[in-house]
Amino acid sequence: EKRTLILAFESSCDETSVAVIEDGHKILSNVVATQIKSHQRFGGVVPEVASRHHIEEITICIKDALQEAQVGYDDLDAVAVTYGPGLVGALLIGVTAAKTVAFAHSLPLIPINHMAGHIYAARYVEPIEFPAMALLVSGGHTELVYMPAENQFEIIGETRDDAAGEAYDKVGRVMGVNYPAGKTVDQWAHEGHDTFNFPRAMERDDNLDFSFSGLKSAFINTTHHADQIGETLSKQDLSASFQQAVVDVLAEKTQHALADYPVKQLILAGGVAANQGLRERLERDLAHNPTTHLVKAPLKLCGDNAAMIGAFAYVAYQHGVFADATLNADPSLEF
Ligand code: KG4
Ligand code: ZN
Repeated sequence: EKRTLILAFESSCDETSVAVIEDGHKILSNVVATQIKSHQRFGGVVPEVASRHHIEEITICIKDALQEAQVGYDDLDAVAVTYGPGLVGALLIGVTAAKTVAFAHSLPLIPINHMAGHIYAARYVEPIEFPAMALLVSGGHTELVYMPAENQFEIIGETRDDAAGEAYDKVGRVMGVNYPAGKTVDQWAHEGHDTFNFPRAMERDDNLDFSFSGLKSAFINTTHHADQIGETLSKQDLSASFQQAVVDVLAEKTQHALADYPVKQLILAGGVAANQGLRERLERDLAHNPTTHLVKAPLKLCGDNAAMIGAFAYVAYQHGVFADATLNADPSLEF
C-alpha cells in the first residue's frame, strides 16, 4: 500500500521546525532549530527577533528535513503548516514557506492548529482512541480538551489568567533562572520539599477552569518578604512548593473532568507535559482507573516541533481539510 508523506512546518513561537512524516505516525525527520539563546538576554521571546530567525532558518530546515528523510519534493503528498495560534510574524514565515512549496510543487496545503498539533504528539506513542481528553499545558495555554471523535475538539476548561508554563517562567525568573525556566524549576522541585504550602486556586470549585496568577503572586510575595528581612530561602523548597501547587490543581481538575466526561484516553501534551512531577502524578492517579488510560506525549515531542504538526496533518488530510493560497496566519486561532 502506498504511504502518505507530509512535509510539516512549525514556526509559531521560538522554534523553527520542519518534519517529514509517514502516515501520520512515523517520523522520517524532525529538524528543530531553536532560538532560545537569542531571546534569553531579553528574558522572554521577542517577536521581531523570532521572525528574523525563522526567515534565516526555514530554508535550511526544509533542506535538512528532506535530506534526512531521504525524500524529494516529488515523493510528497501534501504540505502542512501551523497557522495559529502564536506570534503573527513568526507564523507568517512558516505559512509563506509552506504556501510556496505547495504552489511550486502542486501539492495540497493543510492548515494546522498548533494546539491540535500538541495533542497529536501522543500519536507517536499509540493510536488515539475516542472519546479522548487532553490536558494541554504549554507556555501560552492551559486547557482541558474533550475529543468525542477524530478531528473534534471542545474546550471544557481553561485558565482564567496565566498559563502553567508562563507561571513556571515567571517564578523561575524571580529565582534568577533564564527563560524558559520550567525544566530547571522542575529539577529543583525534585531536590526540595513542599514547605511553603502555596494556594491551590479554584481546586475545589465546581468548574473545570484554572487560575495561576494567585499562586504566582504568593510566590513573589514570599520571596520579596524574605529579601526584605535578609533571609535566603531554599530555591529547591520554593520550587517544590510551587510545583506541588501546580500539579495538585492540574491533577484535581483533570479527575473532576474525567468524572464528567468518561473517556478511553487521557492525553498529556504541551511544553509543560515534560514536567516530571506532573507525569508521575497523573501516572499514579490513573494507575487504577479501569476505563481511562494515560498517554503522555513523548518527552522529546512535548516542546514545539513539526512532527506533531505532521501527525495531526494526516488526520486533516484524510478529512479533506485543505487551504488555498489565501491562507493567512491567525495569531488567536481557537479550536
Ligand atoms: O509548548 P511549548 O514548547 O511552547 C508553547 O506553545 O507555549 O511550551 C513551553 C513552556 C515554557 O513555559 C517552559 O518553561 C515550559 O513549557 N516547560 C516546562 C518544562 N519544560 C518546559 N514547565 C515545567 N516543567 C518542565 N519540565
Ligand atoms: Zn507550543
